[in-house]
Amino acid sequence: MKRLTVPKIRAHKADGETKDPLVMLTAYTARQAQLLDAHCDMLLVGDSLGQVIYGLPSTIPVTLEMMSNHAAAVVRGSYHSVVIVDMPFGSYEASKEQAFENAARLLKESGAAAVKLEGGEQMAETVAFLNQRGIPVMGHVGLTPQAVNVLGGYMARGRSDAEAEKIIGDAKALDEAGAFAIVLEGVLEPIAIEATKAVSCPTIGIGASAQCDGQVLVTEDMLGMFERVPRFVKKYENIAEVISGTVGKYAEEVRSRSFPTSDQTYQPKKG
Ligand code: KIV
Ligand code: NA
Repeated sequence: MKRLTVPKIRAHKADGETKDPLVMLTAYTARQAQLLDAHCDMLLVGDSLGQVIYGLPSTIPVTLEMMSNHAAAVVRGSYHSVVIVDMPFGSYEASKEQAFENAARLLKESGAAAVKLEGGEQMAETVAFLNQRGIPVMGHVGLTPQAVNVLGGYMARGRSDAEAEKIIGDAKALDEAGAFAIVLEGVLEPIAIEATKAVSCPTIGIGASAQCDGQVLVTEDMLGMFERVPRFVKKYENIAEVISGTVGKYAEEVRSRSFPTSDQTYQPKKG
């Protein structure tokens, strides 16, 4: 299987044809990428790894080095999906030149095909600048977690008319700037539907609508690694329970000396 490409993702919505929705999940490690790869069109090395992998309180402290290292692992673990890496907070907002320098570093170090960055109209110039210079960009509007300190939390966006209009305007601006896809996160469903109709590139929903052109979730959230997850997450499994139960069994066997047995130990050769 040849690796999918950014133009193939972008063309997914060509001619306004309805096609099977695009499947995206987050991945942070090589083994996780191996397990997800064949099922997905895109693997996102999300800056959500701040909370999920590093136990940080938000995505704000995530560094370029973290993103680069995990993206390289995900590229090594996959051969089919397009790998997209999040630009961390502080690495792209100051200028389009800063964004290019850091996005280029991420792609050179990791082998990922594209970057994702948060923000709408105010990032459009940067998106065009990167795209024209060889770096495809996925946009991300609505609930943008890197703006937590300005927004004051992670609530759904678009409850006022002004906010709804801004989200749709943001999506259009990114589309016109050449974004190859746009994540719509935590927006009221009618806004997600309207934004999806308003842009030529695919929209990828999370807490948005089944009518988006694709869906994404944080893999650990949908597998049930965490007790508490946002309302928009469907827990397909309770992997935390499986791990906890399995580790409990191991601990009990170690303590009772019933592990290891002769099956797991080396004995001297007879004679
Ligand atoms: O960091 C992340 O995981 C994301 C997705 C939830 C879209 O940005
Ligand atoms: Na992110």
